[in-house]
Formats: sequence, structure tokens, C-alpha cells
Amino acid sequence: MPTPSAIQRIIEEHAALATVMRTLQATVAAAHQAGAQPDFERLRAMLFYLDEVPARVHHANESELLFPRIRERCPALRPVLDRLEADHGRGETSVRELEHALNAWQVMGDARREAFELLLHAFVEGYLGHMEVEENYILPVAQDYLSAADWRELEAAFGAPGHASGAVGAESHRALFERIVAGGGGR
Ligand SMILES: [Fe+2]
Ligand SMILES: [Fe+2]
Repeated sequence: MPTPSAIQRIIEEHAALATVMRTLQATVAAAHQAGAQPDFERLRAMLFYLDEVPARVHHANESELLFPRIRERCPALRPVLDRLEADHGRGETSVRELEHALNAWQVMGDARREAFELLLHAFVEGYLGHMEVEENYILPVAQDYLSAADWRELEAAFGAPGHASGAVGAESHRALFERIVAGGGGR
């Protein structure tokens, strides 16, 4: 069976999230090395992306649509899915903490830079590990155990009108992604 488009989509979203995280880290590192202030608006746009896309699109696709189907078909994966869903729940708080740490750096000055860098490092490592478990462990097993009908239903639900991952949302998120990677800000 060719890779179901629902899986392709999850992997593409992971790649975009990883690119934004790496761009964020590289931007912070470049400012640090140059001894200059970063473009805080641009960093804020990246954090906005990391909040908006996982919370409204990606985690919804996983926690509400894909994971329940995997729970039915592969009960042995339930403990891992529990952990991944707990990560989804914590993600929002983590981004809020990052936003606060970024504000602290901007408002309070360089004494608060390292705290932001450490928090960012922990966030990125944690999120990359989360995606790795999904890609290397969950998705391959799901591909083996879910039926063609399961995948058709999931594909339809991922793009359904009213669902957060519908075409309009996907377009505007892609546009924001392009601006971030091109070096622009949030507008
Ligand atoms: Fe996830
Ligand atoms: Fe994911």
C-alpha cells in the first residue's frame, strides 16, 4: 500500500515544525554571536507559528482523529499514545513560557537571554523527540494495522470543512511558514 496521505501530511507538518524550530534557534544563535539584539518581532512570529499550528491543526489531527483509530486497531500502543497526548496537552503551556521568556529578554535586557536560550533548547529537544516517536514507532505500526477504509475516512476528516485543518487554515499557515523561512516577520 502506498503511504496514506494522512501519514504524508503528518510527516510534512513535522518537517515544517522542525524547520521553524531550527530557524528560531539559528536566529537566536546568530544574534548571540554577533553580540546584537535579535529581531524580536520575527522571533515572535516563529513562536506564534509553533503555538498556532500544533494546537489548531497538528495535535487536533493526531489526538482527535488518528490516535483514536490507532487505539482501536492496536491496543498495545495505548500507553505510548497516552504519553504523546499528554505531551500535546503540555505543549501550549511550554510555548507560553517561551513567549514570556522572550518578552523578559526584550524588556529586561541580555541578563535574561540565557534563560530564553535554555528554555528554547529544552522545548526543541522535547518536541523533536516527540515527533521521532510518532514517525519511527507509531506511524509505521498504524500503516500496518489500519485498513484502507480507515485511511480514507481519516483523509476525509483531516480536510473536512469546519475542521481546523481545512484548506483555508492550511493556506494561511503555509504563507506564514514561507515568510518565516524567507526571513520576514509575522506580516
Ligand atoms: Fe504529536
Ligand atoms: Fe506529530
